[in-house]
Amino acid sequence: MRLEPFELERDQCVHEHSVEFNLSESGVHPLELADLLDPASLAGLRLSYGQANGSVELRERIAGLYPGATPDHILVTHGTAEANFLAVWNLIEPGDEIVYMVPNYLQIQGIARAFGAVVRPLPLLAENGWQPDLDALDRALSPRTRLIAVCNPNNPTGAVMSGEAMRRIAAAAARTGAWLLSDEIYRGAERDGVTTPSFRELGYERTLITAGLSKAYGAPGLRVGWIAGPPDRITAICGHHDYTTIMISTLSDVLAVRVLDKREQILERTRAILKANWPILRRWADDQPWLRMPDSRAGAIGFGRFHAPGLGSRELGDRLRSEKGVLIVPGSFFGVESHIRLNYGAPASYLEAGLARVSEFFRTSLVRPSRVPG
Ligand SMILES: Cc1ncc(COP(=O)(O)O)c(C=O)c1O
Repeated sequence: MRLEPFELERDQCVHEHSVEFNLSESGVHPLELADLLDPASLAGLRLSYGQANGSVELRERIAGLYPGATPDHILVTHGTAEANFLAVWNLIEPGDEIVYMVPNYLQIQGIARAFGAVVRPLPLLAENGWQPDLDALDRALSPRTRLIAVCNPNNPTGAVMSGEAMRRIAAAAARTGAWLLSDEIYRGAERDGVTTPSFRELGYERTLITAGLSKAYGAPGLRVGWIAGPPDRITAICGHHDYTTIMISTLSDVLAVRVLDKREQILERTRAILKANWPILRRWADDQPWLRMPDSRAGAIGFGRFHAPGLGSRELGDRLRSEKGVLIVPGSFFGVESHIRLNYGAPASYLEAGLARVSEFFRTSLVRPSRVPG
């Protein structure tokens, strides 16, 4: 099987733990175990196999995030990454088409192509606050459309889709009979505290939601994700799960229940980090004539357009890393050029020091940045 490189994850795998300043993350500074419970209370936990689709306790709590859902609507997976993989593996046959939001975390595109699908882009328009181009949606649909895949709130832009766009997308899926796959991993990480509606709330039966604890909940190391969808489809996807990881770790299942029991408190912590750090990134970006960064609403991510003639975003990323020890994410890893994504979820002093290295690069390197035109 031909598999295109998932550049974002490859770059992070190679460099994330060796750079001085990692501004390539998209979530907030992670929780500690002691934020969840007294570690000694885990001493008696038996390390047996757990329930393969997730414990009832955990699936009850996840179901509580979606109106009308029960534990039978939920499959617990090894991160949202596995949730996306299983959903696409289950749905896609060679020759199918998927309509896919771009810019995006390109996992679903890469897997769908590997399984033989043709990917038709649904562009997000920078000039329209990164809302989907709904005329392009109509043009991208065909009788072969099997799946419309969105990410809301969006990575990398941090934009939240308008209610009108959500309704139009759900209606388009209903018109064609396509499945709707909504990656909602950043839901709950809205800076203004207004939780993004889930696509499940629109009531279209063929909807799968993927999400997990890595971003809004600050617990990526637990590797807990899920799929929420109609029980018969969830059962079918469980059959695929049997061939991948079978189940999450018993320890993660217990801790994930604890995370969701402390949901309000944890999301409050996330928002406090976002509110404290966003002004740091905002002020810094406003001082950089080579960069235009619109406000981001969700996730600890700012996505901006840079202007440095002759310098591609990949090259910029490589040079920032090798010359200044800072890892950022080039726009090309999300399907758009001349942009960079910066994380602002780290402790403030770390963020400020990392950003100072980025400005230093533009001040002192051979690159001749200029003001973003227009
Ligand atoms: C949109 C999106 N989906 C899925 C993932 C994978 O998340 P997880 O850590 O839950 O596997 C990420 C990680 O960056 C992401 O940004």
